Amino acid sequence: MQDNYRRNINYLRVSVTDRCNLRCVYCMPPQGVQTIPHEEILRIEEIETIVRAAALIGVKKIRLTGGEPLLRKGLAQLTKQVASIPGIDDITLTTNGLLLPSCVAELKEAGINRVNISLDTLRADRYREITRGGDLSRVWKGIQLALDAGFHPVKLNTVIIRNFNDDEVVSMARLTLKRPLHIRFIELMPIGSSDSWAKGCFVPAGEIMGQITARLGQLFPVKNLTGSGPAKYYRFKDGTGTVGFITSMSEHFCNSCNRLRLTASGGLRPCLYDEREIDLKTPLRNGAGVKEITGLFMDAVAMKPDRHHMLDGWRDEQRVMSQIGG
Ligand code: 5AD
Ligand code: SF4
Repeated sequence: MQDNYRRNINYLRVSVTDRCNLRCVYCMPPQGVQTIPHEEILRIEEIETIVRAAALIGVKKIRLTGGEPLLRKGLAQLTKQVASIPGIDDITLTTNGLLLPSCVAELKEAGINRVNISLDTLRADRYREITRGGDLSRVWKGIQLALDAGFHPVKLNTVIIRNFNDDEVVSMARLTLKRPLHIRFIELMPIGSSDSWAKGCFVPAGEIMGQITARLGQLFPVKNLTGSGPAKYYRFKDGTGTVGFITSMSEHFCNSCNRLRLTASGGLRPCLYDEREIDLKTPLRNGAGVKEITGLFMDAVAMKPDRHHMLDGWRDEQRVMSQIGG
């Protein structure tokens, strides 16, 4: 379905839990965030009804996110149910990778097509620091298993933070020379915990690209990497994988935005950076079916703003990224 700015809305990001087994510094405060009570979280059948409604307004692609989606019980079952919905032709997953070893085969079988794995550093000590306790070797195991399971492309998400991991961009880009990995450098956004310090730690994508090409040589634009949304992808002359940049701040891509977001507690958000959301859970629990929810999807599409105003600062103090869905 087209919105008021003639954008075709065909992608829904579904946060299946607000819980996470990490507490990344840019996402959460040290003590973590209060989790939503169990009964406030959408049930699997409720998510299924919502996706059926989404499919009716033209959503074709679903991304399962969190918090950490692999913490959600019944994720494989949900995936199967979503995969069987007419109109849904692509199901992907964004994860921190820690739990992949125990479920990667099951998820592939259930119908996940592709995975994005968050990885902000190649150094174990830094990983522990940035995630407040995570074990890097487990993530690498997850990445390897995702490749072995035949997910393609496997994308890595790297949020760049000045004076923290910006000295690693060259080594991270180098990973794509020999391996079929697709690394995406993401500009730090002033959301959640990073709201107060993001400005001082922001590194524009152009600067990262400059550092990489100065050391490793020219990057050539790549077209048609599967699922390529807002990222711009490049490849080294003899590269196996690709290097991508997500310029949420320096060059916003709102004019090609095709997505809506569903929070774990059933709020439908027209835009990541807009506190307005449409409550789907209450109507569902009061007996609404696919038809009524479809109407609410149309309302959400009509509410989609032309662009975000992140450069003005984060207005919504209530929710952090793990609650909205990364
Ligand atoms: N800025 C940029 N990306 C963020 N993420 C979470 N918080 C931020 C932020 N402040 C993204 C990371 C992570 C995903 C789950 O959410 O890319 O990989
Ligand atoms: Fe968890 Fe992702 Fe937030 Fe890190 S960024 S704490 S992995 S939800």
